[in-house]
Amino acid sequence: MQHPDEIKWPKADFSRVPLSVFNNADVFAREMERVFQGPVWNYLCLEAEIPNAGDYVVVYVGDKPVVVDRADDGSVHAFENRCAHKGTKLVRHNQGNVKNHTCIYHHWCYDLSGKLIGVPFQRGYDGKSGMPATFDKADHGLTTLEVATYGGVVFGSYRRDVEPLESYLDKPMRDYIDLTLGRPVEVLGYWRQRIPGNWKFYFENLMDSYHAGLLHQFQATFGISRSTQRGGSHMDKLKRHRIIYVHYGSDDTQAAKAGYGDAKVIDDTLKLNDTRMIEFIDEFRDGRSILMMTLFPNGFFQRLSNTLAARQIRPKSADEFELHWTVFGYQGDDPDLRQRRLLQNNMIGPAGLVSIEDGEVGALIQDVLGANPTANTVIEMGGTGPIVDPDSPLTEIPVRGFWRYYCHLMGFEPEGGAAWRP
Ligand SMILES: [Fe+2]
Repeated sequence: MQHPDEIKWPKADFSRVPLSVFNNADVFAREMERVFQGPVWNYLCLEAEIPNAGDYVVVYVGDKPVVVDRADDGSVHAFENRCAHKGTKLVRHNQGNVKNHTCIYHHWCYDLSGKLIGVPFQRGYDGKSGMPATFDKADHGLTTLEVATYGGVVFGSYRRDVEPLESYLDKPMRDYIDLTLGRPVEVLGYWRQRIPGNWKFYFENLMDSYHAGLLHQFQATFGISRSTQRGGSHMDKLKRHRIIYVHYGSDDTQAAKAGYGDAKVIDDTLKLNDTRMIEFIDEFRDGRSILMMTLFPNGFFQRLSNTLAARQIRPKSADEFELHWTVFGYQGDDPDLRQRRLLQNNMIGPAGLVSIEDGEVGALIQDVLGANPTANTVIEMGGTGPIVDPDSPLTEIPVRGFWRYYCHLMGFEPEGGAAWRP
């Protein structure tokens, strides 16, 4: 296996990515430390998932399980799901409500902020045994993360010196959150799936709108997202996050078919008995049937037709990740809209009419990686050189923005790339 520092990045503008970074265990180990525990804000959960004191969810930051909960004073806390005593998994359910967190092994008990508040038999019994007098519970709390929230979204960081969340998100992403989460949210359910691929393939996929109108025949055929529609992307100042949008009905079906040429992605023979799944209700009055936000390094917010969801990428190894979906609507949605959101969920999740294909592509890449130790991917759609906001859905430019920031954190230097550092 190549040492991570021996991997060659042949283009300064990140228009080539060495395939070896997708299956190298040493690269994966460095990512867990320098990316997920680096100077970033990881997406943790929605505040709507923990509305009351004592509510908790277990999420992941990189490959580390992290508990997020709400304390009695309403504050939100995050800590590693690992007892400070023997390293036992502390919280064993995915979500719930508790007064405190007590380990089943020796019943060490932590308050909702992660402080150790109880150690059975700390003073022994009947004048015998007990912890030494020097033992101080204050020294044995859980490993906590910095927590910040914006617009009902909870973020966590391992770095105490991380930049303020508002600056990390930057204005386009804050605007997206204001728009999409600016009213009380109702969590409708969850999807969870294992994908036998590398987590970075999936992050690329989320930033690559070029694939969306080609791989996903369902949404191209029914006009939810096509490469021929009007659309574009916005990025933050460091080009690590991205928003993509397309305008529903902004192309003509016949012209679109001509544009696709022989690709045969639009298939007129496909029909639906219940068309509510493809009927886009313009609830935000902006005509956008796709409005998606990718947040470095692990978050994704989705508006696909009338489905709303947040996704969390949970790397497990270089060859596998879990994808966790929190599907939501708004409190007070009228029953018809709520029903449409649920119905349109057939497009997403592990077996979704659209999303199933993304998981399959991850497996198709991972399957043959071992046979391609020195090959590179090609990222040129939309142009090479400067990483700028594209004005078309036919683009891979934001993918290069992801790699630029990734390399910056990982200490990878492309050939002649010093001027490209963020
Ligand atoms: Fe996709």
